[in-house]
Amino acid sequence: MRPYIFITRRIPETIIQSLKEKFDVNMWKYEDIPVPREILIAEAKKADALLTMLTESIDETILTAGRNLKVIANNAVGYDNVDVATATRKKIAVCNTPDVLTDTTADLTFALLMATSRRVVEAAEFVKQGKWQSWSPFLLAGQDVHHKTIGIVGMGKIGEAVAKRASGFEMQILYHNRTKKPKVEQQLGAVYTTFDELIEKADFIVCLTPLTSETRHLFNRSVFKKMKPTAIFINASRGPVVDEQALFEALTAGDIAGAGLDVFEKEPISADHPLLRLPNIVALPHIGSATQETRQAMLQLCADNIEAILEGKQPKTLVNKDWIPLVRA
Ligand code: DGY
Repeated sequence: MRPYIFITRRIPETIIQSLKEKFDVNMWKYEDIPVPREILIAEAKKADALLTMLTESIDETILTAGRNLKVIANNAVGYDNVDVATATRKKIAVCNTPDVLTDTTADLTFALLMATSRRVVEAAEFVKQGKWQSWSPFLLAGQDVHHKTIGIVGMGKIGEAVAKRASGFEMQILYHNRTKKPKVEQQLGAVYTTFDELIEKADFIVCLTPLTSETRHLFNRSVFKKMKPTAIFINASRGPVVDEQALFEALTAGDIAGAGLDVFEKEPISADHPLLRLPNIVALPHIGSATQETRQAMLQLCADNIEAILEGKQPKTLVNKDWIPLVRA
């Protein structure tokens, strides 16, 4: 019997062609609707490999159901939706999609920063709604980006790529991270600070830290209160890193000036969520890595990782580095 792969969304045939030559491949029928949980559990029971999206919780139930599972290839660099500890215990490899999305996600993060500070979305709507009566000196005047201070929380590869873009705008770059990044300090003049110093000094606070038990609700009311009243907060990592109620209160109380959000505590965010009523937020539907080229590259990397594992080879991008491809427990 050939190994069985289940893919939790409909993805282009070109990505799965080579997998189909060697394995049995099945995928959920819709691109825009997540696979129902009961179908995922039933498929996991049969699968040697799952190609998953960040919308699926790959928890103990799925990993236990998957008695033959050898690999979870998650189509995202973030893997907070996967119980990596349980996967490792069960000798299941967990793979993600770093590198291929770095520049694309940094572009979107910077676009969000620009859009929020220069009120691009508001201004575009203003024109479309026929509200533009005349040019006037302070019509939709936003805030400068160039020569300001950016504070990057989470200086991984995407953080570095955002810092590179900020340096082109001649910004002063502060960062906070678990480890210092001497290369970014030397090359871009980035300065390591404590978290508190960063949030107090930065004009733009950019959140790129992964979601972990330590970073859940890292941005809470007391943190927003310490920011400058002119500060703009950008989140392009994971929604639950921010306490959205606290962000709403900070924006309405004038503790900060605006926010650009690509991610939310609950996705998709409901259209009547109070945050969406505020004029000073720009909200996007989690599109950090969403370009044709990058989404293809991410899926291809997932397919390559599955092929490698099922053929007993080392995958290109493994999350659980202590994963041991031995006979499963
Ligand atoms: C990721 O890769 O983690 C992004 O959030 C999905 O595009």
